[in-house]
Amino acid sequence: MLIFKRILNQKGQGCNCCESCAEKLSDDNLETSRRGLFKWTLGALPLLGSVLPITNAWAEATDKSEQDEAKRKLTPQIGDRFTYFTRRKRGTILTVDDLKLGEKQILALPIGPDGVVRDRNRYNQVLLQRLSADKFDKESAERSFDGIIAYSAICTHNGCPVTGWQKSNSTYMCPCHQSVFDPQQSATVVDGPAPRPLPALPIKVENGEILVAGDFTDWVGFGQKRSS
Ligand code: FES
Repeated sequence: MLIFKRILNQKGQGCNCCESCAEKLSDDNLETSRRGLFKWTLGALPLLGSVLPITNAWAEATDKSEQDEAKRKLTPQIGDRFTYFTRRKRGTILTVDDLKLGEKQILALPIGPDGVVRDRNRYNQVLLQRLSADKFDKESAERSFDGIIAYSAICTHNGCPVTGWQKSNSTYMCPCHQSVFDPQQSATVVDGPAPRPLPALPIKVENGEILVAGDFTDWVGFGQKRSS
């Protein structure tokens, strides 16, 4: 048995017959482990090379998605254009030609210059409409362009979107509790429980597209004013 162990030792395979042999065996094992790790690393390099770009791309995509999410929550920004609220046409830019004189208001959302629709904030819903400017009060005339006006769609009573249109007297009606607003007179309350007018949004037109030209004239919402 001793001879056999010695033969093994001579062949460099080591044995555990004494402290010296055990130490050598341990050194050999360590060396073997190092070589193994080195070989594994060499073998894994091509794999790492293919995984890293995927990881980077994933990190960039996550980053962009978080940025877009933040942009979607922003209130209307000066220079934003408008798109339809309805999902079927969301993303299509609204132009002056889409607004026919005297037709029902269009429920719209602001869309940033980068094409991000600001649809993660329900207070961003806007009414767009073209009416005869002859009957506009001074403020409505100043905020409008060629009869095109924009108001917050959020009812100041309880927050429903003001989607009703009464063509007979050119007024908006909230479907929830029938508050009535006059869009030609700065959306003042004509009837119903709404406590104040719909905030107006100044607009301008460039290349036929309707753009946000300023901030809402009052805070948007209902009940107590939100802190932000
Ligand atoms: S929510 Fe509009 S009238 Fe009540």
